[in-house]
Amino acid sequence: MAFIIAVDGPAASGKGTVASRLAALYGYPMLDTGLLYRAVGVRLLEAGGDLDDATAAEAAARGLDLAELEKAQVRTRAAGEAASRVAVHPGVRAALFDLQRGFTLREPGSVIDGRDIGTVIAPEAPAKLFVTARPEVRADRRWKQLLGQGETVAYDEILADIRKRDERDGGRASAPMTQAPDAVLLDTSEMTIQQAFDAARRIVETARARSGDLPG
Ligand code: DC
Repeated sequence: MAFIIAVDGPAASGKGTVASRLAALYGYPMLDTGLLYRAVGVRLLEAGGDLDDATAAEAAARGLDLAELEKAQVRTRAAGEAASRVAVHPGVRAALFDLQRGFTLREPGSVIDGRDIGTVIAPEAPAKLFVTARPEVRADRRWKQLLGQGETVAYDEILADIRKRDERDGGRASAPMTQAPDAVLLDTSEMTIQQAFDAARRIVETARARSGDLPG
């Protein structure tokens, strides 16, 4: 069976960094599922659509071209907000399901990060992490990242964004962000990137040993 490493957690928790380092370590392909929702949001906005319109959002998701994930616009603050809003629509989530599910079936394994990977997309994943950090720490990281991308924005606004997103992503009816019962919690608030990666690697290696596979 494919060795799926499912990495979930809130915005700017460090899950993307941890996931890409794990992918490099094991030589597995990686899918950042947040990019899918971001690309749907950007697509809809560019077409002049309404993010709260479930039918239009689902159509945008069904027509998604994976090349759209590469656009710089999907990494902006506005795209993150749009993603969180289109992600509440069950039709959008359904439209993106097969692509994500198919990715997890790749042999010998894969790394996939998002909000509902361990709960909905790959509940059978042998290795599950829920990466989090305090909102203030996440806001600081996201703020610095956006400044580096040339976006001028106040820290307080980013903190407000983060809190609003946590509430929306965790409170929606369809596949809310939640820690799977068998996921290991990794709080990176007081960790450097290296410490977070080392902790994640230990979690994955324990899961590998348990699943009868040898560390790669
Ligand atoms: O990981 P990110 O910040 O790029 O994700 C953007 C938004 O997309 C997030 O606020 C909620 C949504 N999302 C989701 O609902 N399910 C996922 N698996 C990934 C992202």
